[in-house]
Amino acid sequence: MPRLVSGVHLTGWGAYAPSQILTNADLERMVETNDEWIVSRTGIRERRIAGPDETTASMAAVAGLRAIATAGLQPDDIDLILVGTLTPDFPMPSTAALVKGAIGNKHAAAMDLAAACSGFVFGYATAHAYVASGMAKHVLVIGAETLSRCTDFTDRGTCILFGDGAGAAVLSASDEPGGTLGIEMTTDPSGAYLIWLPAGGSSRPASDATLGAREHYMKMKGTETYKMAVRTLGSTSQAALKKAGLGLDDIDLVIPHQANVRIIEGLAKSLDFPMDKVFVNVGSYGNTSAASVPLALNEAVAAGRVKKGDRLLLVAFGSGLTSGAIALEWTADPANAARAANIGPGDVSIQPGYLEPINPFPPALEWLLK
Ligand SMILES: CC(C)(COP(=O)(O)OP(=O)(O)OC[C@H]1O[C@@H](n2cnc3c(N)ncnc32)[C@H](O)[C@@H]1OP(=O)(O)O)[C@@H](O)C(=O)NCCC(=O)NCCS
Repeated sequence: MPRLVSGVHLTGWGAYAPSQILTNADLERMVETNDEWIVSRTGIRERRIAGPDETTASMAAVAGLRAIATAGLQPDDIDLILVGTLTPDFPMPSTAALVKGAIGNKHAAAMDLAAACSGFVFGYATAHAYVASGMAKHVLVIGAETLSRCTDFTDRGTCILFGDGAGAAVLSASDEPGGTLGIEMTTDPSGAYLIWLPAGGSSRPASDATLGAREHYMKMKGTETYKMAVRTLGSTSQAALKKAGLGLDDIDLVIPHQANVRIIEGLAKSLDFPMDKVFVNVGSYGNTSAASVPLALNEAVAAGRVKKGDRLLLVAFGSGLTSGAIALEWTADPANAARAANIGPGDVSIQPGYLEPINPFPPALEWLLK
C-alpha cells in the first residue's frame, strides 16, 4: 500500500439534529419493549425524528452550510459535494445535487455515496483522494439520514435503534503539517444481508406484494451484526493506525460509529483502549448511520474534547458490510465553531413544492406532531 499523500486537513465541521425527540417511553407505547431493556442492550435513551418539512437533503444542507462557515469559506469555494446516505430524498436526482442548490453553490460537482453507516468515513476517504490529487481544493463531505422513514415501527428488534440527523466536514488542501494521516476502507459482501432494505431497488421494485411484506423497511440479524461490528471495527482501526505509522497510544480520542454502546465498549476492550478516550453520544441520538460519526465529531469538539494537535481516530461499520477508519491530526481552532452559530434551517433553500404529495410523515409517528 503506498504511503498516504498528506496536506489534507479537516478545516470545517457542522451538524444538524431535528428537534423532535422519540424517547424509550414513547417506544414502550408502540411495541412490546421497555426502557430498561433498551438502555441495557444499547445505551440508547432517545433519538431525533425529522419533521414533516424535513428530508435528508434539508438536514444535510444545514450541516453542510455550518461546516463551510466553520472553515471560514463561502459555499462557492467548495469544488465537490459528497453526501453519504442510505436514505436519499430520491434515487435520482442525488441528494448532493439538492444540497448544492440549497446552499447556493454554483460550480461544485455533487454526488451521493452509498456505503450505509460507513458513508461519512468513505466520503472522507474519497474527499481526501480528490484533494490530495489536486482535483479539488475544498470538498464538503456530509453524512445525513432520515432513517425514521424506513424504520419498521412494528419491529421491536430494529425500531429502538435508529434516528435522524446530519453531520458534515470540509476537507481542504494545506501545506501545514498534520491533517489526514492514515485511511483504511474495507467491504465484505459475505455479510451483505445481515442488515439490508430488501425492496425498492431493481431486484425487488415496489409492488403490492413488497408493501404487504413490509420489505421497504430495514431488516437486521442483530446478534450476527453485533459480532461482526466489534470484530471489524477493531481490525479496521488497527489497519488505519498502521498505515499512519501510529500506535493506539498516540490517539487522544476515538470517535466510533454510534450504533450501540455495547459495540463501542466491545471495540475499546478488543483494542485494550480506555473508554474515557472514546466519544459516546449514542444515548441521545441512537444510530444515525452515515450521520453518526460527524454528529459525534461535532459534539466532541463542542464539548472541548478535541484540541489543536490532537490525534483522532474516526471508525465506522455498516451494511455492505463496509468499514472505514481515518487517523488524523486535528489542526483547526475549535473556537471556529462560533462562525456557524447563527446558521439554521432558514438559511438553506430546498426547492419547495415536491414535499407535500410524496412525503407523508411515517403513520406510526404521526402522534408526535400533535
Ligand atoms: C439489536 C440488539 C440490541 C439485540 O440485542 P441482543 O442481545 O442480540 O438480543 P436478541 O436479538 O438476541 O434478543 C434477545 C431477546 O430479546 C427480545 N427483544 C428483541 N428486541 C427487544 C426489545 N426492543 N425489547 C424487548 N425485548 C426485545 C428478543 O425477542 C429475544 O427474546 P427471546 O429470547 O424470547 O427470543 C443487538 O443484537 C445489537 O445491537 N445488534 C447490532 C445492531 C446494530 O448495531 N446494527 C447496525 C450496525 S451499523
